[in-house]
Amino acid sequence: MSSVTRSTTYRYPETSVLYRSLTRSFPKIIRGEGVYLYDETGKRYLDGSGGAYVANLGHGVSEIADMVATQMRKVAYVTGTAFTNEPAEELAAELASLSPGELDKFYFLTSGSDANEAALKLARQHWVEMGRPSKHKVIALVPAYHGNTLFTLSMSSREEAKENFRPWLVPGVQMPAPYSYRCGCAGDPICPRCTGTLLDEVIARECADTVAAFIGETVGGSSTGASVPRAEYWRTIRDICDRHRLLWIADEILVGAGRTGTWTAVEQYDALPDLLVLGKGLSGGYAALAAVATSERVLAPIAKRSGSLSHNQTFSHAPMMCAAGLAAVRYLKAHGLVDKCRSMAPTFHRKLTALGGLPFIGDIRGRGLLAGIEFVEDQKAKRPFDRRLRFAETFAAAALEAGLVVWPNVGHADGLRGDLVCLAPPFVVSESEIDELVALMSQALQITIDQLALS
Ligand SMILES: Cc1ncc(COP(=O)(O)O)c(C=O)c1O
Repeated sequence: MSSVTRSTTYRYPETSVLYRSLTRSFPKIIRGEGVYLYDETGKRYLDGSGGAYVANLGHGVSEIADMVATQMRKVAYVTGTAFTNEPAEELAAELASLSPGELDKFYFLTSGSDANEAALKLARQHWVEMGRPSKHKVIALVPAYHGNTLFTLSMSSREEAKENFRPWLVPGVQMPAPYSYRCGCAGDPICPRCTGTLLDEVIARECADTVAAFIGETVGGSSTGASVPRAEYWRTIRDICDRHRLLWIADEILVGAGRTGTWTAVEQYDALPDLLVLGKGLSGGYAALAAVATSERVLAPIAKRSGSLSHNQTFSHAPMMCAAGLAAVRYLKAHGLVDKCRSMAPTFHRKLTALGGLPFIGDIRGRGLLAGIEFVEDQKAKRPFDRRLRFAETFAAAALEAGLVVWPNVGHADGLRGDLVCLAPPFVVSESEIDELVALMSQALQITIDQLALS
């Protein structure tokens, strides 16, 4: 066995980790508690985005670690091909009781990308087994993000992430996302993009007989910086999908599991998708876990014909990850954390409005404990920065330096330009921690302005 070289500089190529960036160093986190993370030097970071929108419950919850460890001692892994297991059964039952309408069948996987891929395949399989093989196209919103597998990336509008892989990607049908700040309709009550009626036009152009599914984030995630669709949007989408016989997949990987103040974001719209996908906060980060939710109605043609889903993975339904999900969901319920998220949301958004008076802030929006802050070079014209400035990345690095974790996104304004950061603190965040978060945001903005020499 080779000896391990100890290093205190965690950057490529100093250690054996292939880091996500090969050009910068990474602080090494050794502990987390509530909304805070601590690195090995003792520096404290306020986890303002729960990492990648994952740490909904807060860090360092030992009850969850104990439940997972107990399950691991009983049995950590069995294959879902041969067996079921206690945590998978109990987690599915818990989720069925929390989910709206008929969504009471759950398929467990280890990442949001895998789960969206499985949901899209399930939609396609539904139509094939129904005897409608011509239905294969997927309509997806722009901007949106659905994952990093080749098909979910194909259905996403992340041009930078797609760049190297274009020859491997497949074409999707794109439709502008509800994104009021950049729509240009000035609040027109019948704007097709903002009301959702645009889907009718897109289906007419594509021919309903060739379309299998429509996929959309119920409330925007990183890609539109937490843009919130109008109240009628998802009911309109539901009606159109029914009329043209499309399956609607609600991607709630980022906004589900309580993030917007209710267990699912879609229940606030009084409309029911055919499939709903959860991930990220479902386990609060205590294991890698995602889930596809659907119903007997959608599964009926598959149950009648082939009898099994054509998407399987080694870790689907694995006990240790389902145990983490079960522990997280029970902890959320026992501590009323979704209610806490909902009741803290007005304070969170009110305090964030203080940032509105600062330079280069174009818009602040969101729902629940999710907010997007969009930066612009010209506030009146909503003109984005030149991408060469790397405003969002510079801001995120400045925030980290100041002790705050935020999630940056680029490219939403026109495919290439656009800079924003999202905030999604753990549901246990207190009012004083929100004050600290807001103060660190303005500090990070000032550092960014200085570093980029903006006037
Ligand atoms: C809305 C949405 N869908 C899908 C994904 C992909 O999830 P994962 O990174 O767990 O594969 C993400 C991840 O950021 C997401 O935000």
